[in-house]
Amino acid sequence: MADQLLEVKDLCVHFGGGRTLLGKKKVPFEALKGIDFSIAAGEAFAIVGESGAGKSTAARCVVGLQKSTRGEITFQGAPLGFHRDRDQRRAVQMVFQDPYSSLSPRMTVGGALAELLRVNKVCGTKEAARERAGELLEMVGMPPSALDQRPRAFSGGQRQRIGIARAIALEPALLVADEPVSALDVSIQASILGLLKRLQRELGLTMLFISHDLAVVRQLCDRVAVMCDGEIIEMGPVSEVLAAPREEFTKNLLAAATDLPDLEMEPLAAPPPKP
Ligand SMILES: Nc1ncnc2c1ncn2[C@@H]1O[C@H](COP(=O)(O)OP(=O)(O)OP(=O)(O)O)[C@@H](O)[C@H]1O
Ligand SMILES: [Mg+2]
Repeated sequence: MADQLLEVKDLCVHFGGGRTLLGKKKVPFEALKGIDFSIAAGEAFAIVGESGAGKSTAARCVVGLQKSTRGEITFQGAPLGFHRDRDQRRAVQMVFQDPYSSLSPRMTVGGALAELLRVNKVCGTKEAARERAGELLEMVGMPPSALDQRPRAFSGGQRQRIGIARAIALEPALLVADEPVSALDVSIQASILGLLKRLQRELGLTMLFISHDLAVVRQLCDRVAVMCDGEIIEMGPVSEVLAAPREEFTKNLLAAATDLPDLEMEPLAAPPPKP
């Protein structure tokens, strides 16, 4: 369909194939057994499933961090391979699960953001890059003083806000968020999810959201695919899948969903005045 931003067809990933030293064929582990899904522009699409289902492997293929064994990914109507040009890399960005290991400890927050903006030619000068870095931090609810501090000065929730600022810095069309709150304290999970929801709505982002918690998916996403052992076993609008899950596995997942309060969406920081 023409309005699909991302189409994934028959995506397979096998780990650990090849041959032993004696030339015997090793049986590969099939982490993804040929999955199909598509995401329309502006849609928030969730992949849920228990640990080891293959959710992160699917996300990593979409972002270009994992080579597929077979299958096709089409993005904005063009094939999206493992090797990508700068525009393709810019267009698909990721928020990682662990905000402690995903930010460079050596650079200041502003320095890292400004470098990203300059390397990708979003900003031409040092000054413009620093100014834009400040705006990005404001968008994710961080004070301007964060520009000159290193990640270690911040809590997990604040670091994840910085990780989100980095992911939206290049104005991606698709944001992939792989369990963005599961490494965080429960008390701050809702505020980070609220931030993501607001950014998705207000910036018109398309989102691939990975989670093992259907309560989160209920609040954030339009459609959901349920994964089990490398396969999608159920897929549809969130309201339908949650109201009447067809598979026993989905019913169990629903029973295990957390009791998440309604997400509060912080207002988007006012855009800076035009010169
Ligand atoms: N680089 C790798 N080499 C070998 N096996 C791998 C590799 N990456 C993932 N796997 C295996 O593939 C399967 C799917 O892993 P994946 O990380 O995609 O699961 P997941 O659904 O994201 O789980 P979780 O909820 O724990 O994050 C797992 O059994 C995992 O051990
Ligand atoms: Mg994972």
